[in-house]
Formats: sequence, C-alpha cells, structure tokens
Amino acid sequence: MRPEMTSSSPTDRRLNALVRHLATASPVMESQTTVTFSPTAGSHGDSVFSHVVRAPEDPILGEGKPLVLNVVRKAEQMLVNDRSRVKEYLPIVGLADFNKLSAKLIFGADSPAIRENRVTTVQCLSGTGSLRVGGEFLARHYHQRTIYIPQPTWGNHPKIFTLSGLSVKTYRYYDPATRGLNFRGLMEDLGSAPSGAIVLLHACAHNPTGVDPTLQQWEQIRQLMRSKALLPFFDSAYQGFASGNLDIDAQSIRMFVADGGECFVAQSYAKNMGLYGERVGALSVVCRTADVASRVESQLKLVTRPMFSNPPIHGASIVATILKDRNMYNEWTIELKAMADRIISMRKELFDALRARGTPGDWSHIIKQIGMFTFTGLNKEQVAFMTREYHIYMTSDGRISMAGLSSKTVPHLADAIHAAVTRMS
Ligand SMILES: Cc1ncc(COP(=O)(O)O)c(C=O)c1O
Repeated sequence: MRPEMTSSSPTDRRLNALVRHLATASPVMESQTTVTFSPTAGSHGDSVFSHVVRAPEDPILGEGKPLVLNVVRKAEQMLVNDRSRVKEYLPIVGLADFNKLSAKLIFGADSPAIRENRVTTVQCLSGTGSLRVGGEFLARHYHQRTIYIPQPTWGNHPKIFTLSGLSVKTYRYYDPATRGLNFRGLMEDLGSAPSGAIVLLHACAHNPTGVDPTLQQWEQIRQLMRSKALLPFFDSAYQGFASGNLDIDAQSIRMFVADGGECFVAQSYAKNMGLYGERVGALSVVCRTADVASRVESQLKLVTRPMFSNPPIHGASIVATILKDRNMYNEWTIELKAMADRIISMRKELFDALRARGTPGDWSHIIKQIGMFTFTGLNKEQVAFMTREYHIYMTSDGRISMAGLSSKTVPHLADAIHAAVTRMS
C-alpha cells in the first residue's frame, strides 16, 4: 500500500469532516440522497443504477472546430522535438514558469504586487477549475461564505460556487430595456450586500450579455467594494479576446490590484490561445503581504491534492513556451488581435444586414456589446421560431456566439432575425 493511503492525519480527518459537511449542505447532494431504489435490483438482472434519471444536456458545451493558432502549433512542435522533456508529474501547484508568466500577463509586467511577492498563482484546470479551487479555498478559510454573482451570468457559475460550499446570491447587472448595464441596480445591490461578501466580477466581455462597465463605472464599483470590504473574485476568460489588446482587457483587475487590496483572479487560456480542450488556467490570489500569500498557497495545495492531485503538463508548457519567448509572444498577440477583430467585424456585418432589411428595433447593441457573445434581446418564442424555421441554434435567452459567424452565414441569420421579429413580436 502507498504511504499516502495509510495515514489519517488531523488534516485528513478535518477534510473528511468537511467533505461530509459539503455533502449534506449541497442541494444537489441532498436531492441525490432522497432517491430510493431496491437493494435487490441487481439480483434480478436490472442495473443497480436503473433509478438514475437522465440529466438534461448542457445547453452550451458544443463541438465546434476552433482554429489552432499557428504559434500554438509552433510551440507544440518545439516541445515534441525536445527529447529532454519527460512526462513526470508536475508539482501540486503546477508549472512554475507558467504560473509566473500568467501572473505577469494578467497583473502587468511592472505590477508592484508581483514584485513584493504578494501574489500566489497556482495552475488549475482552465477557468472552471480555477474558479472551483478558489471557491473551495474561500469556503474553508474565509469568514464570509456568500458570493454575489451577476444576474445573468455564465450558467456554470452558480453550480461551481454552490458545490464549492459557498452560498450564491445575485446582483442586478443587465437592463433588458437598454440592452446595457443596469449600473444603478448593480450599485444598489452591492451597496446592500453584507460587509465582507465575495463578489464575482467578469474582468471583460461579460458572458452572456457582452455588456461591460466603463472604466469610470469600474472605478465607482471599486470604491464601493473597498469601502464595504467586499472581496473581488475576477473571472478572466477572455483577456485579449474582447478588445484585441491584452492590457486593455486586464484594466478592471489592475485597478483593484493597484489599490493594494486583496482579490482573487481565475484565468483561462481556452479562448485567447484557443486551448479549449487542453484545460489550461490559473488561479491567482493577491494578498496584503508575502507571508500571507505563501500561507494561502500552502492551503490551496490542500484543496487541489484530493481534487485532481496536480494539473496536466502539456497545455501549460505550450503557454509557457509562448509567453517566455518575445517573438512567439508577439506572434500570439497578432493572431489574438485578428480573432478579436474578426468578431468585431462580424458584429458590424450583422448590424448592417439588419439595417438593410429594415428590421424593426434598435440593433445598435450588437455593435456596442463586447467580446464573443451578443445578447440579441430575442425572446424564447423568437429563438424557437428561428430554430424551427431557419435551423439556427442559440441559447434560449437569445445569446449568439459571434465567433461562430462568417460573412457567408450573416445574411441567413439576418433573414431569420428579421422574420422572427416581424412575425413573432
Ligand atoms: C465567463 C466564463 N468563465 C469561465 C469560463 C471557463 O471556461 P474554461 O473552463 O473552458 O476555461 C467560461 C467559458 O465559457 C466563461 O464564459
């Protein structure tokens, strides 16, 4: 037997108690424990799992064919050709170079927080895994267990944080009337959140609305949050993918780090390096002192070890290879900008196509919104009509991915929107 399987240290016992606690605290687990089934089912040839109810399909996770960046192909070739590379496990916190470079990418090369060693960065399983590890750390070690997430938000957020052991509440974010930010509602809701509560913020290119605060609004949000000691947890899934510029898309985060306060950041390389299936991401915790940061890191390891032991090596090596070489880094930023620009031009083409058709309504939100998604404002019936009559598939809240559009498909989409709006209003 391996030594790690024989021990039952106080830490192990605390973790076991926590796992039991989470199992009973989580609504999902609770509903699972109420299911009854016959213990003899197996002996009659039926499956012992015959009581299992089919779960609904995930409405979003699709199988597209995202582009592999040239610079990624190049980095992979270099890794394959390097015979000194082995497949040894990474440390629990992941690849050291990757972590250092990821922190630099998100906080800026000249970040005082990095210079003062107040940041701990651990490699996790893409954005999702980074949010989950951060959530579990907070559930174990932070005095406030409530996290406020925007309404609406990415569908996985409430599940990730509930299963992390946090209690999820929402703050107003989107105003359907203007198809823009409900800034007043946001400020009111954060203003009445309990002191110390955690607040999830999309760093840029809010999913699903494509609506971001302006820099002035970010500054007001920052002041309000700091005055109430609300803890920012940034989700950065689209750095560089929104504006085409890595620094511009990190501005919101950097404002919060510049004031010397603490924050969490989950980073994903799925979109901006097209590394979706490689599951590459990082969680950074910015602390007040280097000493706190190193203690936080020691506890993050205790979250990761029983969850996935240590992260995968290949994707992180690709990212580190690109980020540490000036030429490859430059090549990446050019390819990234091309992806972002293509999305921006698709917005313009769709907007022009609707205007050309005289489609009723103000469609300027299509060009004002930011990032990969457009929240069209189409209602459920209109979405169902477009699927039925035009074979166009989108989430039922009317969100479309601009990355999935091309100049060839824009006219068909515009025809469908036009028909839906004129016939189903
Ligand atoms: C807002 C947001 N956060 C996080 C993620 C996480 O993605 P991944 O786990 O693939 O990095 C996504 C992916 O769509 C997202 O839209």
